[in-house]
Amino acid sequence: MIEFHLNGRGRSLDTDPATPLLWVIRDTLGLTGTKFGCGMGVCGACTVHLDGEAIRSCVTPLSAAAGKAVTTIEGLGGDHPLQRAWVAHNVPQCGYCQSGQIMAAAALLASNPAPDTDEIRQSMAGNLCRCGTYNKIQRAIHSAADSIAHWQPDAPEPQS
Ligand code: FES
Ligand code: FES
Repeated sequence: MIEFHLNGRGRSLDTDPATPLLWVIRDTLGLTGTKFGCGMGVCGACTVHLDGEAIRSCVTPLSAAAGKAVTTIEGLGGDHPLQRAWVAHNVPQCGYCQSGQIMAAAALLASNPAPDTDEIRQSMAGNLCRCGTYNKIQRAIHSAADSIAHWQPDAPEPQS
């Protein structure tokens, strides 16, 4: 039995510990905001947070989440400054990479609330976008960084 928290809610799963966390999130627990892209840890579509760190859930076994907190795009709550900035800057095109992009950006702003453009580029370099939305992503991150200092998150609602 593996126990962890997913978006604030305790989970206890009797699942093969070697199962990729992405499979558990999407197929076992039904949270489909996190996407499967390459399955090899190179595109970033599957990015989630593990104890606040951005990780590739396609190459992370469930066992790595034991006793830890996993946050997916659903766990950001929909009102996060990054999500607002993504809408304001009309970032997504096909949208497939975007939950991974936002989760990578959220980890960046948590560790560096005011990144410059080079820091954004460096930090986001592992998240690929076939639609080429990189410039919009940079602008949205700058915009979110400007507002995040004044943002008060709602009381956390456990996400299932
Ligand atoms: S699907 Fe995980 S990095 Fe591409
Ligand atoms: S918006 Fe289409 S892959 Fe990024």
